[in-house]
Amino acid sequence: MCGIVGCILKDKEKHVAPILLECVKNLDYRGYDSVGIATIDGKIYVKKDKGKIPEVDEKLNLADMPGNFGIAHVRWPSTGIANKVNAHPQLDEGNGIAVVHNGSLKNYNELKGELVADGFKFKSTTDTEVIPHLIRKYINEGLDLEHAFRKTIERLDGSYAIAVISKDENNKILATRHQSPLKIGISDDAYFISSDVPAIIEYTRNIILPSEGEIIILDENGVTVHDEYDNEVKKEICVIPWTAQMASKGDHPYYMIKEILEQDKAVEFTLGERDNIQKIIDDLGNIKNICFVACGTSYHASLTGKYLIQHFAKIKTDVVLASEFKYSADTLDEETLVVFISQSGETLDSINALRIAKETSPTLAIVNTEGSAMTEEAKYTIVTQAGPEKGVAATKTYIAQLTAIYLFTALLTKNHDLIKELDKVPNYIREVLEKSEEIEVLSKRYSFAEDLFYLGRGFSYPVALEGALKLKEISLIHAEGYASGELKHGPLALINHRVPVIVILPPGTDYDDTMTNLEEVKSRKAIILSICAEGDNKAECKSKDIFTINPEVNEIIAPLVYTVPLQLLAYYVTLEKGHDPDKPENLAKVITV
Ligand code: G6P
Repeated sequence: MCGIVGCILKDKEKHVAPILLECVKNLDYRGYDSVGIATIDGKIYVKKDKGKIPEVDEKLNLADMPGNFGIAHVRWPSTGIANKVNAHPQLDEGNGIAVVHNGSLKNYNELKGELVADGFKFKSTTDTEVIPHLIRKYINEGLDLEHAFRKTIERLDGSYAIAVISKDENNKILATRHQSPLKIGISDDAYFISSDVPAIIEYTRNIILPSEGEIIILDENGVTVHDEYDNEVKKEICVIPWTAQMASKGDHPYYMIKEILEQDKAVEFTLGERDNIQKIIDDLGNIKNICFVACGTSYHASLTGKYLIQHFAKIKTDVVLASEFKYSADTLDEETLVVFISQSGETLDSINALRIAKETSPTLAIVNTEGSAMTEEAKYTIVTQAGPEKGVAATKTYIAQLTAIYLFTALLTKNHDLIKELDKVPNYIREVLEKSEEIEVLSKRYSFAEDLFYLGRGFSYPVALEGALKLKEISLIHAEGYASGELKHGPLALINHRVPVIVILPPGTDYDDTMTNLEEVKSRKAIILSICAEGDNKAECKSKDIFTINPEVNEIIAPLVYTVPLQLLAYYVTLEKGHDPDKPENLAKVITV
């Protein structure tokens, strides 16, 4: 994914480039393959290149650019490889218009063909480059910048958050969004636009949420927003409850470890959403089916939701990947609650599915980002209280999603015992975190592996899937999560003395069956690491290594606690392999294409 920022300082004497640089540094979880900044001071100044921000900054000194306003971009390529020419900002031929863009244009080939026929010359292989050329074309036809921008947007098919500056009208930044996130920030001495709040939180917590298709104009006097018919729209300013400190790494070497260590709090704060969740339940009426829809880690939270709802509420529950959702859409009705889970609230596949679902069914979005696109689209919203998460691999937002689903289930079924159990979870998590050094030691023994399997059954099956996903996305080791009963239907063929198997073995009704599966891999000489209860002598005898958890954590509540050592294992193995856990290869935190 990409991230865009724009800033205009009220004081014309000040330089905006150092601020833009800080903002894109805070946005680099959205893309870290290239970075670029454009400012205006009589003419457009551009510095951009392929590479992570510190590398490019060292080479180009990005903060050293004149002008009190400009735009900036971090790139995770979707159209056109990562190189200097494809880095944003993209410019028109005369370097008079600069554009940054997050999203993906479906019709760029057609537009490019038309522009080339008109004599425009393209330098990059990005879809974005059509935008500055189109704006230039309409300015050449006699329109001013704003109307040329409007006309350009009418031509675009796809997703976009765009910001534009022009040397001919060098007092403003124009921006808009369609299916890609964009926020407006207002501080005492500057106005911002940004793909996400953490990028600008150091400067302001006063945020305006523009709607799709609105045109935003920032100048030294303020922010104006117009609708598609050019009428001015009055927007409310909301104060975001996050702080700059919450979004910073603090003394930790990586965001991921900071975020893992915050998980007890993420549970505690999300349990505080009880009244809101109760109101939603009271309003829901008769629900006969539930369908969860999500991607990635949020899909694993959804799978846990299915086990929970079916176990406690006896409501038939499906789980569908957002990108596959349209194939299930015809089975929906008004008695099916469709629950969308997303840390960002901006994943395009999930938003597209939500738009389909809301035609027929009540919808609930469980997101970690207040004001994200999914909160605008869904009928009901639960905001998980994990605080800002910047590590690309989701950790605390996942545990917060699980907490919200457990709390929803407990309130739906008036299960006071489950609520009491949930209140104990922060302590169970703290107990695991206090033993994180044990995992650090274990990671040295397991980082040699080229393939790993994670096994779990019932409530522990999604835990196995999530453990494997965490490891593969950041350590780049191949790992697979499996329902342990399925082992004999394929993966057993791959088990040998070089393959570690991590077994999720909490106490409960599934214990004996999972133990049988553990023995199956043991007899194929697998190296077994069991995550099990303290005092589980059987697991200790049969495993090479164990990591133990408070025995009061039974299989039902286990996903909230047993996931934590697996996150730590992924983190420490990644460090052992010499990779950056915050910035995995080819991945980004928010997928808006
Ligand atoms: C990306 C992120 C994952 C996340 C997934 C779904 O792949 O790297 O961490 O689980 O998107 O994102 P969402 O914001 O919808 O939860």
